[in-house]
Amino acid sequence: MRRGWDPTVLMASTTLPPASAPSSENTQVNIDLGDRRYDILIGGGLLVPQTFEGLPKSATALIVTNTTVGPLYTAKLRAAIAPHHKTVLDIELPDGEQYKDWPALNQVFTKLLEEAADRKTVLYALGGGVVGDMTGFAAACYMRGVPFVQVPTTLLAQVDSSVGGKTAINHPAGKNMIGAFYQPQRVVCDLDTLDTLPQRELVAGLAEVIKYGPIADADFLAWLEANLDALLARDRAALMHAVKRSCQIKAWVVNQDEKESGLRAILNYGHTFGHAIEAGMGYGQWLHGEAVGCGMVMATDLSARLGLIDADTAQRIADLIQRAGLPVKGPDLGADRYIELMQVDKKAEGGEIRFVLVGPLGQASMRPAPDALVRDVIASHTR
Ligand code: NAD
Ligand code: GLY
Repeated sequence: MRRGWDPTVLMASTTLPPASAPSSENTQVNIDLGDRRYDILIGGGLLVPQTFEGLPKSATALIVTNTTVGPLYTAKLRAAIAPHHKTVLDIELPDGEQYKDWPALNQVFTKLLEEAADRKTVLYALGGGVVGDMTGFAAACYMRGVPFVQVPTTLLAQVDSSVGGKTAINHPAGKNMIGAFYQPQRVVCDLDTLDTLPQRELVAGLAEVIKYGPIADADFLAWLEANLDALLARDRAALMHAVKRSCQIKAWVVNQDEKESGLRAILNYGHTFGHAIEAGMGYGQWLHGEAVGCGMVMATDLSARLGLIDADTAQRIADLIQRAGLPVKGPDLGADRYIELMQVDKKAEGGEIRFVLVGPLGQASMRPAPDALVRDVIASHTR
């Protein structure tokens, strides 16, 4: 039976808490999931023993990191968690989205088994979203579940991937297709670690920051427009506010819909087109945040073509994404290939693609869209 173009209304049942004034003080945001509640600590100088007090103690801990982040921060994290464990092991995975796969995940299991790690072993994810997603998935699976702590070291991971319990690896046919919902015990966002982040990665992280404006908080969008240059220059107070507000919005969403039966889908704004770019180009060619940035431009244009927002608002969002230095034109994979890849998106039902669309500004809905419109959008935003 042919379905109509009815939207799935992604209604929040609570009001988004207001933003506090920007400040450089260390702060925290809470995820309130009953017996799985946890804190997100945000600030500078957090890789010290006090930060890790009150977490599960265990004989063995394993720091999972990669060959880039390990040499920079493993020693510091090891010293910070050493008082809480008898033995602190570490493993460095290969660096890159193309290694977010079974062989790399299996290296973690092999290390745990070789070291006879028991079911109380705590895993620490030290790195960006790739390490965080893989470590979380390893923690969900090893002995059917061991505790893990997120120590995100990219802007993207601090504002999005380390929070909310989505863990996964990629499949060549689809991004993040194999995974589990599994919440960490704590998230430690040490802004000092961003000092070593390459600028291209900082910009990629800004895509996931920008996304929160159009879908949930028009005031935050305006703040980002006014403070983009400060963020690009890594001004500490600006970064602190961006990370805190992003985590607050993500917490507000996850607290209402942990397993994405509705509202949480708004966090996938730009991801349907974006995941097609990542998978279509081969993982690691486009950074995840770059693909999401370009995907948001496409999803925003689709929203405008469907009459959900006016053309000026759509342009305003696209301008911010472009000013951030994110790509606004996607690769020319061909419309058929985009559509084929989007049909394996997790939001698709029965092969029907469902897009997260914006409108009015600060709200989002999820709906299918006429094939011809989708093809027009792809044609307008690829080269
Ligand atoms: P990433 O993990 O690949 O990190 C980006 C690069 O920066 C890597 O080369 C990494 O080694 C390096 N790096 C990390 N921290 C550094 C530091 N402090 N200094 C210097 N270099 C550093 O990429 P990402 O953008 O952090 O994460 C993208 C991944 O996150 C994707 O796989 C995406 O699917 C996933 N993701 C998951 C969720 C979720 O809810 N679980 C949400 C958004 C994105
Ligand atoms: N990054 C999308 C989500 O956490 O739901």
